[in-house]
Amino acid sequence: MGKIIRRILLGLFIVLVLAVAGGYLYITRALPSAGETPTLSVDATPGHIERGRYLAHHVYACMSCHSDQQHQLFAHPTDPSGFGKGGRVWDEKDGLPGKVVAPNLTPFHLGEWTDGEIFHAITAGISRDGRALFPLMPYPAYGKADKEDILDIIAYLRSLPPIPNEVPLTELSFPMSLIVNMIPKQPAFSQRPDPSDKVAFGGYLAAVASCNDCHTPMVKGRYDETRRFAGGNPFPLGHGDVVRSANLTPHESGLKHWTEASFIAAFRKYSDSAYVHPEIAPGEFNTVMPWNEYSAMSDAELSALWAYLQTLPPVENPVQKFSAGGGQ
Ligand code: HEC
Ligand code: HEC
Repeated sequence: MGKIIRRILLGLFIVLVLAVAGGYLYITRALPSAGETPTLSVDATPGHIERGRYLAHHVYACMSCHSDQQHQLFAHPTDPSGFGKGGRVWDEKDGLPGKVVAPNLTPFHLGEWTDGEIFHAITAGISRDGRALFPLMPYPAYGKADKEDILDIIAYLRSLPPIPNEVPLTELSFPMSLIVNMIPKQPAFSQRPDPSDKVAFGGYLAAVASCNDCHTPMVKGRYDETRRFAGGNPFPLGHGDVVRSANLTPHESGLKHWTEASFIAAFRKYSDSAYVHPEIAPGEFNTVMPWNEYSAMSDAELSALWAYLQTLPPVENPVQKFSAGGGQ
């Protein structure tokens, strides 16, 4: 009797070992997988490059992550001396599982890549060497964007002056180093909605401009889809200071008392030529929201964002936007 049980246990143990080993091999060898790297080429006419510049700076805000930031100034404006040079680091201090580094997007790094390889990295999250990208790079949203937007952005990246800046590779800690391989997915592109359909257009912009990523509460590493745009996500600013994303739903504790005009004005403030970003000392209110970059969005875009936010279910979530020196 004891012998039989031992055999069964041994059998089960072997099955378990094989399943774990198989799972490990699958995750490390077969994944990431998100379809073939597409063969395509961008149309690098001045019109497409200019549209790509506008999108990369002011809507998708690629440049705010892939350039240095002026940390001493309010809202950390992008340092104009090195657009796309890469090197920004996010790590455990920001609540991340490891050290995540934004690569150089100028031809110094991407010069040898094909347009299809750049496109695949942006929309499927798989780098040229087959590495899965950590989704701080918003590829899950970009894989649902309009291909034309991405192609124009690539045309712009190609036009940047090469900036010699070797950037170290991202290093994720275990188990994220394995889990990250399961995140890239085959893109499911959409069509940019017609601006006359304000709500649909605003929803598209809220996704590709990462508003959703910062403003939808994250619980245990997942977005709480039942409380979309209810805010409250903490962003450490150093020195123990913490800023939290605002509630953008039309609730009393959100934007209920805002108007379309006050919403647009909140952005426009930073594009006013008379506005000077004040220097901010540790312990004073600062934010990670790239106000400066978004402030150049068109009236039609800001108005569509407002129209979209108004359609959200109101969610009660009073947010203390800032606390100094380690307070939660
Ligand atoms: C919130 C910050 C953020 C935004 C916004 C962002 N990126 Fe990234 N991006 C990153 C990070 C971080 C990585 C590296 C991820 C990793 O190594 O796992 C990355 C990786 C990439 C890569 C892969 C390069 C390589 O060497 O593998 C490309 C290409 C890229 N981003 C382009 C873009 C473009 C184009 C946009 C705008 C459409 C954009 N990114 C917006 C943070 C961002
Ligand atoms: C990198 C994260 C991040 C991104 C991306 C982001 N926000 Fe924010 N947002 C914040 C944080 C943090 C605050 C609170 C501090 C402040 O007012 O700047 C905030 C505040 C706001 C406020 C002010 C609300 C209030 O009650 O004062 C509005 C409006 C807003 N965001 C809209 C947007 C929209 C629209 C987008 C996309 C176009 C967006 N945000 C993208 C982080 C972000």
